[in-house]
Amino acid sequence: MAKVIGIISTKGGVGKTTVSAALATDLANHFGKKVLLVDANYSAPNLGLHMDIVEPEKTVHEILSGKGKLTHAIHTRYGVDVIPGSYFYSKKIEPLKLRDRVNELKKGYDFVIIDSSPSLNEEILSTILASDNLFIVTTPDYPTLSCSLRAARFARQRGKAVLGIILNKIRDPHYEIGLKDIEAVTELPVVARLPDDDSNMRALFNRIPISLYNRRAPFAREISKLSAALTNSKEKKPLWKSIIPLDLRREEVNRQLLRKTFMKDSPQALQ
Ligand SMILES: Nc1ncnc2c1ncn2[C@@H]1O[C@H](COP(=O)(O)OP(=O)(O)OP(=O)(O)O)[C@@H](O)[C@H]1O
Ligand SMILES: [Mg+2]
Repeated sequence: MAKVIGIISTKGGVGKTTVSAALATDLANHFGKKVLLVDANYSAPNLGLHMDIVEPEKTVHEILSGKGKLTHAIHTRYGVDVIPGSYFYSKKIEPLKLRDRVNELKKGYDFVIIDSSPSLNEEILSTILASDNLFIVTTPDYPTLSCSLRAARFARQRGKAVLGIILNKIRDPHYEIGLKDIEAVTELPVVARLPDDDSNMRALFNRIPISLYNRRAPFAREISKLSAALTNSKEKKPLWKSIIPLDLRREEVNRQLLRKTFMKDSPQALQ
């Protein structure tokens, strides 16, 4: 039975779609998992651009307006089953039906990843209610952090726990909010620290998710550490790190705890 992971934030442009596409392709191609990736940003459905699905025939929009099953909108790309959205759909959709449609498909997958809308209305609620586990993507600046707090509160009010923060676009730690402060303010663990990485721009231009476009890019490596925690697999470390044992960084400790949470449902051995 799939674990349904919602990638949320209430601010646009922080990297939800980039993270969703990278995590999904990494889990499918490098961890052997069966993954369904859903675009739930109904107003600005960009996931198809990341996954090279430019003019999809059937989309999540048709399905949420009552026309057919979610399976009819599946497009397989880069080893992932993707349900893209439509830029042009003009009829009324019912975002809150996403949960039932996803539940119908859960059996056939290891992971369902839902890329959310930043709009604090039925759009983000659609992802929150359809997901078992939520991660908030934020950048390390005060305006975005205040939005992240709002997202966490919104999820909590709906009885959904947020498992952690994915900190993205880290550029210059001297002028950015530190991990400890972010955790103190949000009361949530930071489970990934993703650098600002130009490879993302090149990957998007080529419409290849970064985990496949350049697996060695700093951003892709960090995503892979998150995948390892979600699948209870070993984190890939440079050789020198296995020879010289160093104290674990804070986000590494947080990932160990995350690993335990995910292991409860599927206790497979470390590969
Ligand atoms: N770590 C990063 N380094 C460099 N560029 C990044 C990084 N993460 C995301 N980007 C770029 O930032 C832009 C916005 O990213 P993305 O579309 O994933 O954000 P989003 O949160 O999904 O936005 P929206 O709320 O509009 O859906 C894209 O051009 C993407 O390539
Ligand atoms: Mg997006």
